[in-house]
Amino acid sequence: MDLRKLEATAEELVAPGKGILAADESHGTIGKRFEGLGIDSTETTRRDYRQMLFSTNGIGEHLSGVILFDETIRQESSGGELMTNLLKDAGVIPGIKVDKSAIDLPLSPGEKTTQGLDGLRERLEEYVEMGAHFTKWRAVITIGDGIPTRACVEANAHALARYAAHSQEAGLVPIVEPEVLIDGDHSIQQCYDASLWTLNRTFAHLYEQNVELSGMLLKPNMVISGKEAAEQSGVEEVANMTVECLLRSVPAAVPGIVFLSGGQSDLRATAHLNAMNSMYDGLPWELSFSYARALQERPMEAWGGDNSNVDAAQKAFAHRLKMNGAARSGSYDKGMEDAA
Ligand code: 13P
Repeated sequence: MDLRKLEATAEELVAPGKGILAADESHGTIGKRFEGLGIDSTETTRRDYRQMLFSTNGIGEHLSGVILFDETIRQESSGGELMTNLLKDAGVIPGIKVDKSAIDLPLSPGEKTTQGLDGLRERLEEYVEMGAHFTKWRAVITIGDGIPTRACVEANAHALARYAAHSQEAGLVPIVEPEVLIDGDHSIQQCYDASLWTLNRTFAHLYEQNVELSGMLLKPNMVISGKEAAEQSGVEEVANMTVECLLRSVPAAVPGIVFLSGGQSDLRATAHLNAMNSMYDGLPWELSFSYARALQERPMEAWGGDNSNVDAAQKAFAHRLKMNGAARSGSYDKGMEDAA
């Protein structure tokens, strides 16, 4: 394992002012998002949509990397260029989602476990050939009556660590994503407790599997009240509880933490990241973004399945990138939204 190379890639992915776009939705997930906007999900519409994102002018200024889905890493643009080359030309590092999605955890109603370890070594070798430099694996933890259970937290933490070890063995930076879901009516304190537990167990398993912390990134949820909670957390509260949770669970050797947006509105996701970066100085890790919905919601709506809307969609995408780029240094202000 070339640790120096892993560290250099991890550092590039969390370079100042830049973050990651998660464009790795499975066919099922992108199908649901398209359906909500009346767009057919076909190989061609998925290509056109992602090509629109990747060929937006100047994305390299605020994007360090893009996480791709298996279909996209093999796909060519309408002009016959590999989609990965569109990214490379823009100075953006291609990455790949390597888990095979979350399924019901047996004998544990309401909980999930992530599959995809079988054959992972061979798949990773293929992705290296295709030009990927980093990978992602998502684990899902649900808060509810009597859950998460220890069985769920341990199973997911173990799988994340096994995946991360495989990824480093292949020379690919793992993005370890334990997501405590925002779904439900739980309080921010319940989210804090579940996140603290999950993160501590994840790092215990990463240690046992010999994962080098300086050659990985963590992709956690923010600590936030449930979507249906009567009392909704404020921006400073989210920033404070999230950073305090991470300080108690994430070792300083990890170079960066790249948040998922998890169903927050795009403006809230930007405001929360900005608040963390402006309220805290001298944290051991970079605090950045790896959003799917919070970066894609507006451009997808503007595109609407019609390639004559590409300019408007790219403008919306470039704007969200710029806002989140500013949030990296705590210099975002809501007034910047109207200036667009
Ligand atoms: P969201 O930002 O929409 O939560 O997606 C991030 C992601 O990559 C989920 O795996």
